[in-house]
Amino acid sequence: MVHVSRRSFSRSASVLVGGAVLQVACAPQNPEQSYEAVADRTWQSPPTMPAAGLDNSLELVRYATLAPSSHNTQCWRYRVGISDIDILPDLERRCPAVDPDDHHLIISLGCATENLVLAAQALGQRAYAVWDAGKEGVHIALEPQDHRESALFHAMTSRQNTRSAYDGQPLSAQELELLARAANADEVQLRLITDRPGIERVLEYTIAANTLQMADVAFTAELKHWIRFNGDDAVASRDGLFSRCTGNPEVPGWLGKAGFSLLFRPGPENDKIAAHIRSSAGIAVFAGARPDKAHWVAVGRSYQRFALQATALGIRSAMVNQAVEVTTVRADFATALGMAPQRPDLVVRFGRGKAMPRSLRRPVSAVVM
Ligand SMILES: Cc1cc2nc3c(=O)[nH]c(=O)nc-3n(C[C@H](O)[C@H](O)[C@H](O)COP(=O)(O)O)c2cc1C
Repeated sequence: MVHVSRRSFSRSASVLVGGAVLQVACAPQNPEQSYEAVADRTWQSPPTMPAAGLDNSLELVRYATLAPSSHNTQCWRYRVGISDIDILPDLERRCPAVDPDDHHLIISLGCATENLVLAAQALGQRAYAVWDAGKEGVHIALEPQDHRESALFHAMTSRQNTRSAYDGQPLSAQELELLARAANADEVQLRLITDRPGIERVLEYTIAANTLQMADVAFTAELKHWIRFNGDDAVASRDGLFSRCTGNPEVPGWLGKAGFSLLFRPGPENDKIAAHIRSSAGIAVFAGARPDKAHWVAVGRSYQRFALQATALGIRSAMVNQAVEVTTVRADFATALGMAPQRPDLVVRFGRGKAMPRSLRRPVSAVVM
């Protein structure tokens, strides 16, 4: 998706509109409800104490909600039983323009599944996750075991999609090996592209797809709907794409919405994507063995382990999925990568760089059924 870098737009006092500097008044606010305070609470890591019962389950759900989701829709609901948890799609949070077949939505459930499984281990439970076609969701059975805290678990509260330029330096063979090992899954193919011609090829398809997306009225309207143009709006909904997470300024919501099509232009957006991809150490492409929901969950789990392992190593990553989102580009992209007839599911750039502001999450009470 074109997340303004695709998500190009912060609580700043002045904004440039049509060449004029507009002063934007920022209302005083309760410090507890500032973006930073809410983000701090969202990403805090409490001590992990093995505990039994429902309270533990709600803590597992909290960790699951720290997973990434497409457009930060948090397109999940959790049904909590005595010894099991279902992760179900929240179909009211679908994104039909960018994700007409719910591919990204189901991958997001896979990411949440992996967080929940890793958190269960850390809290003293073994978790068995399967795709349940009847429920159209992930069923996770829990049973007691000795608690095991992994580096991936500890990385959970600092992982982010870091949409900034990286330092352009390669990773070591050992780092690449650790990333591949973390992502390893029976039915998921991972392609790590670290040579410059290979990275340029990915860029070419990404730009082609991004240009098509930006000309698509339904796509841009849907994206605009999920952008939170300032901290107050982000705190109010605790979902969506906060402008500063993409290095863009905060503006009042009305101004962001009105100016979106003026500021969100293919030329600058494509230039930003090119700079970001070229600054990366490499690109990871994930492809499930079959294009069905069980495999999309597997892809989400594999990707989430990759992102957490990267975080544990101090390596940043960010999705750049345009080439797999636009159907007319995806087939050629798969062929160019030598992955056809498999459907490439996710495209992720990685490298070292500075952290960006963190995204928000809705509270557990909002997602438990
Ligand atoms: C299936 C899926 C597809 C995504 N595609 C993109 C993308 O193309 N571009 C992008 O910048 N972020 C993409 N994201 C990242 C989400 O926007 C991000 O997870 C969300 O905003 C929450 O931020 P966080 O991951 O930093 O916690 C995707 C996430 C998922 C799970």
